[in-house]
Amino acid sequence: MSKHNESWGSRVGLVLAMAGNAVGLGNFLRFPVQAVQNGGGAFIIPYLVCFLLMGLPLLFVEWSMGRFGGSKGHHSTPFILDSMAPRQFIWKYVGVFGIFTNIAVAAYYCYLESWTLGYIWHSVKGTFSGMSSTEVAGFFNSYTGFEDYQNVVFWIFCLVLNTYILSRGLSGGVEKVAKIGMPLLIAFGVLLAVRGVTLKAGSAGAEHNGTLGLEYLWTPDFSTIWTPKVWLAAAGQIFFTLSVGMGSIQCYASYLRKRDDVALNAMSAGWMNEFVEVVLGAAVVIPITVGYFGIEGMGKLVSEAGGLGLGFRTLPYLFQQWGPVLAVAAGVLWFGLLFFAGITSSLAMGTPVMGFLRDEFGWKRHSAAWGFGAIVFLLGLPTVLFFQYGAFDEYDFWAGTVSLVVFAMLEVILFAWIFGMRKGWDEITRGADIKVPIVFKYIIQFITPAILIFVFVNSLPGIWDAITNKALYAEIAKTTNPVAAAALKKKIFYVNISRSLLLATWVFIALLVYLAYRKRKREGRFTTTDVM
Ligand code: ALA
Repeated sequence: MSKHNESWGSRVGLVLAMAGNAVGLGNFLRFPVQAVQNGGGAFIIPYLVCFLLMGLPLLFVEWSMGRFGGSKGHHSTPFILDSMAPRQFIWKYVGVFGIFTNIAVAAYYCYLESWTLGYIWHSVKGTFSGMSSTEVAGFFNSYTGFEDYQNVVFWIFCLVLNTYILSRGLSGGVEKVAKIGMPLLIAFGVLLAVRGVTLKAGSAGAEHNGTLGLEYLWTPDFSTIWTPKVWLAAAGQIFFTLSVGMGSIQCYASYLRKRDDVALNAMSAGWMNEFVEVVLGAAVVIPITVGYFGIEGMGKLVSEAGGLGLGFRTLPYLFQQWGPVLAVAAGVLWFGLLFFAGITSSLAMGTPVMGFLRDEFGWKRHSAAWGFGAIVFLLGLPTVLFFQYGAFDEYDFWAGTVSLVVFAMLEVILFAWIFGMRKGWDEITRGADIKVPIVFKYIIQFITPAILIFVFVNSLPGIWDAITNKALYAEIAKTTNPVAAAALKKKIFYVNISRSLLLATWVFIALLVYLAYRKRKREGRFTTTDVM
């Protein structure tokens, strides 16, 4: 059995680390875009329904699975899941997703996180001052296009920083960062949100009041509420933002004690994330961009360059309209906020693979942390080198979208139907500091799995289109320009390479799980499949 005896230093630290895991770049960059692309007010109702019927139940499930597995000495999903399903060898391989997703998301997420450091540096240096909107947008292309290799320097720095913090352990590293990062993030977010919503038409060149963006988002539109696309987008956002279906929550929770509360902690972390997302996340990018460009203008910017575009191409330009001092302050607040949001999430992505290497192969904490850093460096290279060829988006699609749904669907079936809802409910309510409404028992047993199966089945056509590169081939068929067609073919090549790498990573982790299982058998260590 594992000899590693990591634990959380305090309850506040645990909740802040869990909230930090959830609150990420997705809250500020992904959420506004999902809302804009899905009709603003049409999005918010499916989003909140998905939070209550899928997000919160999954939080309860993952926290209690983690604590259950942890009490048996497991700190990553392969053997946490295995310990819940006697005799069924398959679950440890389902658990592979809980390591794979973290590594693969970290591979592109840390690169994105490193841009925030680069942009803090340039905001302070005043690089954007006096630039036109096209120049600020163009700066992003030169930054990610290896001009001066600054992107590589900041990326490596960011990876080393993550690795170093992870090597300090949960209470000595992760928890300390969460205790500093989360309050700062909220303070920065509040300052920017106040500026965003109080922006007045006519001031600093704004054409509309900042409140126009909020009205757009918060006026429910019941006419489009039954569109499946909107529901799929809402469900996808709930997954990404809460970090459910990833395997990181189970890992953090595996360091709890057997009778520690999971119900109130899970609620607190979940609601804190929702506050940051729907209150702060919605009150920065949308109001400021709508203030200058109007709703249609913002829609156009989003369809051209997505959330990353708004955050890195548009906002630094708009901040310049506020005068030199406020421009620097806003740049530091905005990219600082994104940095804290990012690092508290990427640290959580490091812990499952560390738990696995330590539990199964006896690695020391330091080696496991640097092992994670090395893997993320190698797997992240394509997203850095071939960013312009779609490698980054490919990782985001498979690891940050598809994998989450598949894993969450299977784990909730395991929890409610194989482990059993009676035992499952005992796990959720044992040591609970709140009375969990009994309705969640039925939601977890029937409604959450049904929603997840619905989401998965409805995603299949999109998954097939992605596998066959349908959209890229359609673009090739449409273009009459041979240079553009060649560029698209090149993109298909890099997309296929990225996808194959991800598949190879999954298979490699599955092989390690198999070896770990054999090792356990040889050593006579407990796995449920051996003894039951
Ligand atoms: N939950 C993290 C985010 O929102 C991954 O970015």
